[in-house]
Amino acid sequence: MIKPSICKLALFGNPVSHSLSPRIHQLFGEQFGMSIDYRAIECGIDALPAELDAFRASGGIGVNLTVPLKAVGLSVCTEIDINARRARAVNTLRRSSERWHGFNTDGGGLLYDFDRCNIDLIGRRILIIGAGGAAAGIIGSLLERGPAEVCIVNRTIERAERLTDRHAHLGPVHAAGPDMPGQQNFDLVIQATSAGHGQALPPLRRSWLSARACAWDLNYGAAHQPFAEWCRAQGLTVHDGLGMLVGQAALAFEIWTGNRPDPTPVMTALAG
Ligand code: ATR
Repeated sequence: MIKPSICKLALFGNPVSHSLSPRIHQLFGEQFGMSIDYRAIECGIDALPAELDAFRASGGIGVNLTVPLKAVGLSVCTEIDINARRARAVNTLRRSSERWHGFNTDGGGLLYDFDRCNIDLIGRRILIIGAGGAAAGIIGSLLERGPAEVCIVNRTIERAERLTDRHAHLGPVHAAGPDMPGQQNFDLVIQATSAGHGQALPPLRRSWLSARACAWDLNYGAAHQPFAEWCRAQGLTVHDGLGMLVGQAALAFEIWTGNRPDPTPVMTALAG
């Protein structure tokens, strides 16, 4: 268990000014009496290597990467974990001497949220809408939990097919386009597109889902609203991406400090 006097951490990406991560990690640090210095630093793709060098030289031990740096972040790591390899993206870096070790905690963060809500994935039929980076970050973790099926639907079916091909060795995963017929009976739908950022809805039909299907959005805040409204209109229970955000942060905090925080009080604080 590491307990430095000040634990220097940062989020790099663009935009980062409205990120909840500094608050979340502050609250995690308080659980262990640790002083956390977690900054949100605006950074573009070209500047990342130099910014990371400067941060490491100033005593930084851990980094989160967000849009647009998760894929390019792979190139600064000398080692990556299995989740980063599957997702082809890193969201967490840990300094080891003069190098960076890369991780992806997004899928684990979503599983944390399913556990928190007592959602068992064994034998479930799961529908993922979207085939970008957000979807790539979760598929491997979902397949590890033994669902009956994972179907990826995307506006551009070729991207869904590419993701399916990459993950087929892990379990039953297949792709479909927006013209997928009805009566599919999926019992969990995960909204993993960025359509909500433009206040739009992704391709979605009520007839793809079972009567008592559960819905999860990887987005929160304003980007969650179009999907939330659609779900409510269809009589579906919907969860936003805040639980996954806190879950992925908890896993990152443990990677950096060796301390496993309790995400539940942090969820309560963010909701308040
Ligand atoms: P990221 O990698 O950050 O997730 P991305 O690669 O742009 O971002 O992927 C975003 C996802 O949202 C994709 O699945 C995209 O669909 P396409 O692959 O067809 O582009 C989806 N998406 C974004 N806006 C959408 C919209 N208005 N309707 C439907 N799907 C949308």
